Amino acid sequence: MTQKATLVLLALAVITIFALVCVLLASKSGAGGEASQPRHCPSIYPNGRPWKHSSQSQIFADLSPEELTAVMDFLTKKLGPGLVDAAQAQPSDNCVFSVELQLPSKAAALAHLDRGGPPPAREALAIVFFGGQRQPNVSELVVGPLPHPSYMRDVTEEHHGGPLPYYRRPVLEREYLDIDQMIFDRELPKAAGLLHHCCFYKRQGRNLVTMTTAPRGLQSGDRATWFGLYYKLSGAGIFLHPVGLELLVDHKALDPAHWTIQKVFYQGRYYDSLVQLEEQFEAGLVNVVLVPDNGTGASWSLKSPVAPGAAPPLQFYPQGPRFNVQGSQVSSPLWTFSFGLGAFSGLRIFDIRFQGERVAYEVSVQEALAVYGGNSPAAMLTHYIDGNFGMGKYSTPLTRGVDCPYVATYVDWHFLLESQTPKTLRDAFCVFEQNQGLPLRRHHSEFDSYYFGGLAETVLVTVWQREF
Ligand SMILES: *[C@@H]1O[C@H](CO)[C@@H](O)[C@H](O)[C@H]1NC(C)=O
Ligand SMILES: *[C@@H]1O[C@H](CO)[C@@H](O)[C@H](O)[C@H]1NC(C)=O
Repeated sequence: MTQKATLVLLALAVITIFALVCVLLASKSGAGGEASQPRHCPSIYPNGRPWKHSSQSQIFADLSPEELTAVMDFLTKKLGPGLVDAAQAQPSDNCVFSVELQLPSKAAALAHLDRGGPPPAREALAIVFFGGQRQPNVSELVVGPLPHPSYMRDVTEEHHGGPLPYYRRPVLEREYLDIDQMIFDRELPKAAGLLHHCCFYKRQGRNLVTMTTAPRGLQSGDRATWFGLYYKLSGAGIFLHPVGLELLVDHKALDPAHWTIQKVFYQGRYYDSLVQLEEQFEAGLVNVVLVPDNGTGASWSLKSPVAPGAAPPLQFYPQGPRFNVQGSQVSSPLWTFSFGLGAFSGLRIFDIRFQGERVAYEVSVQEALAVYGGNSPAAMLTHYIDGNFGMGKYSTPLTRGVDCPYVATYVDWHFLLESQTPKTLRDAFCVFEQNQGLPLRRHHSEFDSYYFGGLAETVLVTVWQREF
């Protein structure tokens, strides 16, 4: 009995081993055997395939430096000798605030793109501050046709349903400089005693900086902004170094000499003026918390900069990029689109087609909103609506290999803002294609039929940078 049982067990073991060997061999000759020697799949993107660029989508391209210059020259001629460079303009001057592409109407663009109609006139939109007249206003003017403008059309009412009151205009860099001059030269010396005591005050506050907030008031017609004061620490964000002083500046008057401080906030309490704050400080009525000018030591919010270490991993295109960027147009065998940057509205992409078929006419950023909170007036009031500052206007260059892959294609942006000559933001956009390293779909079959099927997820990306 025992011998028989042993023989049966032995036979079963042999059969089991044989079966296992069979399974192993079978799977080795199947998909598993490919591990060391990948088989080449025929590419579905044969090399040498021509890139399809329709010159039609040029209608969405941002204005070139030549076009911006042509518009500025035309406006200078039309608006007369009273026009002042916005970089120097006082509120009581006329100046051109901005010039950018006036997008064609969708109907005209589609008639051209889809039905062979004539291209819509290429036009610019100029925002002009008319401060030098009895009833100052802000006007939006369409200038065309480019590249040789011959007409100018006021579209303010069309765009806004009525005239644009002058107080609603964005604050020019020049206006910020004048507000700073008022604060540091005229106002802060009134509280020099307190500022010496609390804040290492140097003559006219040269160790301090201001930061703006928005909205600039609580009701229509206001143009009054809370400015916070911070230590100016070189190489550091100022945000972490408030001195506890905030000033409500009314800058609605057209003459900066008539601007006033409406309210003062210092370390938890409100005062009517810096003079009143100083008087109460001298009377010993102000509880001052000393704020060292080296702050918390947190000059860098994270840690001190260190020398870069080993190079980070890099992406590369083994057969070269599978897409092509010409001006503002991107094409790949699957996708084509046109991109641009609205000075105020931000990144926009047009005529997005997949294998020639339009999937979207326009995909664009329109607005970004940041709501703040805190225990000081500047913090508790602040609601930044970035379109008002300008999401294109305040964008910054992309850093190769940090903001976008090293091998991405970088494209500059030309603009005419608060200036009479066009300027260029280098590497404003990047375009790259990326393998996400994750399958969109995959299956490995090991039963009866042996195969592996998978679809790599790749994305074609266009990036631009607006930092908060
Ligand atoms: C704004 O000012 C311009 C320039 O003087 C003028 O042409 C325009 O008619 C004004 N707009 C309104 C609504 O008054
Ligand atoms: C700031 O400066 C003071 C006085 O010089 C010094 O005692 C203190 O350690 C400094 N603090 C930091 C965080 O560097």
